[in-house]
Amino acid sequence: MTMTTAAEIERALRGVVDPELGADIVELGMVKGIDVSDGKATIKLALTIAACPMRDQIDGDVKRKITALPGIESVTVEMGEMTQEERSELMARARWKAREDAEPTMIDPVTRVIAISSGKGGVGKSSISVNLALALSQQGFKVGLLDADIWGFSIPRMLGVGSERLTASEDKRIQPLEVQGLKLVSTGLLVDDEDKALMWRGLMLSKALEQFLTDVAWGEIDYLVVDMPPGTGDIQMALARLLPQAEMVVVTTPQKTAQKVASRVADMARRSFMPVIGVVENMAGFTTESGEHFNLFGEGGGQELADELGVPLIASIPLDPLVVSGGDNGTPVMQSEPGSPAALAVSGAAKRVVELVPPVEDETCTARIDRLVEGLKQLGA
Ligand SMILES: Nc1ncnc2c1ncn2[C@@H]1O[C@H](COP(=O)(O)OP(=O)(O)OP(=O)(O)O)[C@@H](O)[C@H]1O
Ligand SMILES: [Mg+2]
Repeated sequence: MTMTTAAEIERALRGVVDPELGADIVELGMVKGIDVSDGKATIKLALTIAACPMRDQIDGDVKRKITALPGIESVTVEMGEMTQEERSELMARARWKAREDAEPTMIDPVTRVIAISSGKGGVGKSSISVNLALALSQQGFKVGLLDADIWGFSIPRMLGVGSERLTASEDKRIQPLEVQGLKLVSTGLLVDDEDKALMWRGLMLSKALEQFLTDVAWGEIDYLVVDMPPGTGDIQMALARLLPQAEMVVVTTPQKTAQKVASRVADMARRSFMPVIGVVENMAGFTTESGEHFNLFGEGGGQELADELGVPLIASIPLDPLVVSGGDNGTPVMQSEPGSPAALAVSGAAKRVVELVPPVEDETCTARIDRLVEGLKQLGA
């Protein structure tokens, strides 16, 4: 196994955004030291203030990103505090960044990006993307849904989109389509039919993902759920490059084939520097009204894959015909039957995702410092 170097750790740390400043912690000079030997990584960080409310979030983000790297077994994060001088330097740098470094994508750096992926096709990525996005929205978050299955899009149909298409505003920004409370973007909203999409394959569509991230006016969203295409190819790499804050939820069926799928997924995560948040098991056993239990697709595969990857099992979603009909008639189970076992499981998955990857808070350390200084001034201090 190849070992991760300090330079690679630094690269991964560029995916950790300090929410108070909306820039990554390396760029902001918060990383004071990286040490790696025998699979043990020690990262020294300097926070703007020791009592920074973002402390746990930054700590968690750093650990997740670095543990995802090959050969890293443990991560220690040592938190210190910046000196007044470092603090003013940081503020100057942040201002400079905001000016110079015009946003490469239209996704706010503090938006949490969750890529729904799997080692193989047909396991329910799209169904889970749609229902998870709806569940997050029902829980009060602002949610974008990006259909990254450029050639095999299925989200517009699942959300019952008819003839509506994406439109551009006067400043040439593409406006996401508002559907069932979500901001949706999909190649299915650009082309007239699926045959035509196929025809365009390799032409303009190869740039579609980049365009969806750089030309779409996503606005303020807490979560961007990304429905990934099957397989482990170019789109994953492109997403990781364009959105370094992207993290992965892996979907699997309960069959115990974890080993092979796990290594495929782990490899993809490694190559793209995308940490895995957890595993969602889909098409798990179901119980009939008379209490009979069926495990059509086996049992335990989700937990096994989670253990293999060293991440939590986020949820186990039962096999439920309502998921199929919901997808076919454009009213996902989350909307049509929110009390059904499948919908309840998805809603539990959304809660768990929010715990694991909490929304970035608005209340910032910097805002706190400012208020503190203002308060002291008023006191005549
Ligand atoms: N929990 C479930 N219970 C019953 N059917 C399900 C469930 N989840 C998904 N399905 C059905 O399985 C089929 C495949 O689902 P879906 O299209 O979401 O998978 P996918 O992983 O996105 O596929 P692809 O790899 O082709 O993109 C669909 O017909 C869907 O309705
Ligand atoms: Mg799909």
